[in-house]
Amino acid sequence: MIDHPLIRHKLSYIRDKNTSHKDFRQLLDEISTLMAFEVTRGLPTEKVTVQTPLEKTVAERISGKKLAVVAILRAGLGMVDGVLKLAPLAKVGHIGLYRDPKSLQAVQYYEKLPDDIGNRFVILADPMLATGHSAVKAVNILKEYGVKKLVLMSLIAAPEGVKEMHKHHPDVKIYLAALDKKLNSHSYILPGLGDAGDRLFGTR
Ligand code: URA
Repeated sequence: MIDHPLIRHKLSYIRDKNTSHKDFRQLLDEISTLMAFEVTRGLPTEKVTVQTPLEKTVAERISGKKLAVVAILRAGLGMVDGVLKLAPLAKVGHIGLYRDPKSLQAVQYYEKLPDDIGNRFVILADPMLATGHSAVKAVNILKEYGVKKLVLMSLIAAPEGVKEMHKHHPDVKIYLAALDKKLNSHSYILPGLGDAGDRLFGTR
């Protein structure tokens, strides 16, 4: 859980059904930047010598694995730019999944990932961790590409989704701004914020 007054404040607006899609998009972007600050806290650094205008000094730069942000379509798109503000050289991948109405399982319809994804530290972005089926499927796909180090960054989760992720991928750390009560009978998070994709793009 990433607990910060700014995140709690912005969450209160993003949950509000009267918030416009323009403001929703901006808030998701801002919260994503704040979350990315915490998600990237453990990145390894290495010492480098730099020449300031006055003298040489030893400083630190991110070493080893470089970053990739992978958005689960569609709502994950709303978190990408927020991360890129802090890590502008990160590469961006996309995974498209839809929920099969009968089985309720996540079915893949699109995938475009950086060539070297297997060597990158991957931040998987999906604002709503509801049943967990999409996140589990996306992590399966990323692991097939050899990704070793990945985390899931979600805005709001239901306990059911967290449980499902822990069951299938206990090695994947989950970063959240809020852990909500439960899912309703249509697998929406309560209290949640409604359909993140629709609210982000103004489609409903
Ligand atoms: N996806 C959403 O956009 N909202 C939910 O509450 C659950 C899944």
